[in-house]
Amino acid sequence: MKIAMVGSGYVGLVSGACFADFGHDVVCIDTDQNKVDRLKDGVMPIYEPGLDQLVANNVAAGRLSFTTDLAQGIDGAGAIFIAVGTPSRRGDGHADLTYVHEVARQVGDTLSGDAVVVTKSTVPVGTGDAVERIIADSGTAHKVSVVSNPEFLREGAAIGDFKRPDRIVIGVEDDFGRDVMREVYRPLFLNESPILFTSRRTSELIKYAANAFLATKITFINEMADLCEKVGANVQDVARGIGMDNRIGPKFLHAGPGYGGSCFPKDTLALLKTAEDYDSPTRIVEAVVKTNDSRKRAMGRKVIEALGGADAARGKKAALLGLTFKPNTDDMRDSPAIAIAQTLSDAGVEVTAYDPEGMEQAAPLLPQVTMCDDPYTAIEGADVVTIVTEWDAFRALDLNRVKDLAKAPVLVDLRNIYDPQDVRAAGFAYTGVGRA
Ligand code: UDX
Repeated sequence: MKIAMVGSGYVGLVSGACFADFGHDVVCIDTDQNKVDRLKDGVMPIYEPGLDQLVANNVAAGRLSFTTDLAQGIDGAGAIFIAVGTPSRRGDGHADLTYVHEVARQVGDTLSGDAVVVTKSTVPVGTGDAVERIIADSGTAHKVSVVSNPEFLREGAAIGDFKRPDRIVIGVEDDFGRDVMREVYRPLFLNESPILFTSRRTSELIKYAANAFLATKITFINEMADLCEKVGANVQDVARGIGMDNRIGPKFLHAGPGYGGSCFPKDTLALLKTAEDYDSPTRIVEAVVKTNDSRKRAMGRKVIEALGGADAARGKKAALLGLTFKPNTDDMRDSPAIAIAQTLSDAGVEVTAYDPEGMEQAAPLLPQVTMCDDPYTAIEGADVVTIVTEWDAFRALDLNRVKDLAKAPVLVDLRNIYDPQDVRAAGFAYTGVGRA
């Protein structure tokens, strides 16, 4: 089947390359000429493990191509995916649907045959109805079914998540849409990946509910971590102890500096907005958003404490290891590192940093931070070393070298990747998260 993927950002590109790998004929469309030119040259606009190879293989096999021409890209496509951005609208946090609506208009105007139009972008409940209306208003004579098919890809693990999903959710209102989507996902169907067919509105809500629930789980364990520090308990053991209960499960219970990224912060805000619009408050999610926001600066204050408090910290130097919101990505969106670095600078602390992939994205966001070429250069002369993101490269630092280079042997481990006993035995003062 020919598939058109409108929007070649993170979701569109990964999904398009994976569909091509299943054997479909995929055209990725984007308005950004520069991005399309670079993709044609094999240059990825994002860092995602394995993506460059997957794209290269499928381009070479003639199953994947790129264009800025929407009409040409969707010509003859059985399924047209909308995978454009839905950023938080400035002012009210609602998902900005400008791009989604614009694509729907263009699809309606240029459609050359019957097609299923699939919203893959994360869109508020009712967006499928709006897309359907916009396409109908174009007066197209072709049969169109509008379907919701949210993505659950994690950055850094997106290809694996796409090919071996926990589930595929498809919100569809008619048989035409259902049949085409079965064909689109046939390879996964044969793999026995569970496919859940629901109504379109239900599917749209599932995406928000999933992300809000995961954000809640993280925020819950982060608050338990704070309590552990006060009562003298260990949050990792608490997480293990509750996670062994099958009803709770062990995942997403790693205490840390708070969640960030392109999805959780934006989607929780959008869910709050929808809940408000429908006069059905989601108090738990409200608390999660507030708690997570304040946690990021609180982590900066934790580093200041490790420097001996606000007065002692002024004029000292802090090295941040890891800047991206999580490892294996270059994504800085809503990364806790931004608030942490800001809190430190506000307190008069000089900040150096190193990140394996994120420094290019981080530099304009953190102009006050000195970016270094490797972790040890960042550590040179530092009064405190802080692990912000759990990149593998930081899991086995040469602690003796760190001690020699740093001005003071102080380690703040915001991801709990070190054993406190080992670090203390190496002569460091150690602060973790929720490990009294
Ligand atoms: C998330 C969802 O997992 C994915 O299904 C959805 O489609 C998009 O949003 P992603 O943003 O790539 O994916 O990252 P994820 O691995 O979920 O982590 C999000 C944030 O939570 C990161 O900042 C991470 O550090 C933090 N986190 C995650 C924790 O602090 N503790 C955890 O136990 C898990």
